[in-house]
Amino acid sequence: MFRRLPTAWTRFALAGGVALAASATCWAGQPLWISLGDDAYRLLRAQQPQVVSVTEVAVPVSVGRFGARMHDRVHVVRVDEDWLPALSDAVHRDLHRCGGFVVHDSLGSAREAVQRVRDLALQPEAVAGGKYVINQQTLVQPMVAAVQDSLILQTIDSLSAIQNRYYTTTHGVTASNTIAAQWAALAAGRSDVSVSQFTHPSWPQKSVILTIQGTEKPKQHVVLGGHMDSILSGGMSENSRAPGADDDASGIASLTEALRVLLASGMRPKRTIQFMAYAAEEVGLRGSSAIAADYVAKGRKVAGVLQLDMTNYKGGTKDIYLYTDYTSAAQNDFVARLASTYLPDLTVATDRCGYACSDHASWSSRGFPASFPFEADFNHHSPFIHTVNDTLANSGNQAAHAAKFAKLAVAFAVELAN
Ligand code: BES
Ligand code: ZN
Repeated sequence: MFRRLPTAWTRFALAGGVALAASATCWAGQPLWISLGDDAYRLLRAQQPQVVSVTEVAVPVSVGRFGARMHDRVHVVRVDEDWLPALSDAVHRDLHRCGGFVVHDSLGSAREAVQRVRDLALQPEAVAGGKYVINQQTLVQPMVAAVQDSLILQTIDSLSAIQNRYYTTTHGVTASNTIAAQWAALAAGRSDVSVSQFTHPSWPQKSVILTIQGTEKPKQHVVLGGHMDSILSGGMSENSRAPGADDDASGIASLTEALRVLLASGMRPKRTIQFMAYAAEEVGLRGSSAIAADYVAKGRKVAGVLQLDMTNYKGGTKDIYLYTDYTSAAQNDFVARLASTYLPDLTVATDRCGYACSDHASWSSRGFPASFPFEADFNHHSPFIHTVNDTLANSGNQAAHAAKFAKLAVAFAVELAN
């Protein structure tokens, strides 16, 4: 319980500061704005006493068994990219977590992000009565049965064999192209399915988006995503070895297998389904943030988002943990019912990160309903992430755990899209 207390918002995002420093050589240039919680802000001020918070927002955080409301203070500050590694180290050392801040392109977008999260916290969402119907058993059951662990294992193996998948390296670009090619191969022969790479102007790794065009409500999107990039917490350079087998080759592999069975079924969804492999998650959710912002700018409708980040290390006693922060309670309830309908042998529990720990937060903080089913409770996730030891061997050379998430993803895609 203690770890959840005032830090919930404080950790609105943990970005790899080291990562940013490494990127400074070729992709820097613009001034950076970060948002961070009070505790990380105090550490930054200890290192750079001249910095001042230009925006300070109190974000309500409900905590504890009695649902008592507490506030967490979030600051927006302008920083020099070179300070971020030291800040990141201090957060790691003194606050016992990674990162500690979210990067924004401008003061305006930093302020908007902070306000959005505050507004979201203030307005508990209306329960969408009747919206989440489960009635596609005939379609979903055979697809769930068709999920193969061995194919998930192969994808984790091939992605983690890439030297690293860092957002600024040539290998990170290779990872994007590899995923795009694998998804395009699955889409071959389907004129209603397309694969594109989303260009991010500030770094070379592109996000990958596969689209299955909806037949009846093509403007409404069902989004399933995970992040393609990997990182080492000690700092990255071009040839660092960062296998990221669990974080997050596993999520991409679960999604890829869900996609395979979905396409193999020949089913044509009513709503548009999109699979996304995000770039640059490990450095402040930057890829997903750009995509979600683009969807807002274009006025695109998103019926729901499912995030798979870390699916293959079974560290908890239950099978699937639905994370309750930065996610939609109504959609989480739907996901839990999908699990009891289609995966009745599995056990489902809830937990929370306590901060914006993955790409679901990029969507939920912009008002889109998101869910985040995760491999373990927060205290028992893979201990190897962000190290050279995040290998398939350290998840037991199996993909049975990741297969559960592939099955859940299939059910989510079909039920929400139809
Ligand atoms: N996969 C992790 C998120 C995670 C870790 C969720 C442990 C639950 C338990 C993700 O890739 C990550 O490392 N996120 C960063 C924050 C991000 C904003 C840079 C983190 O948690 O430090
Ligand atoms: Zn990570």
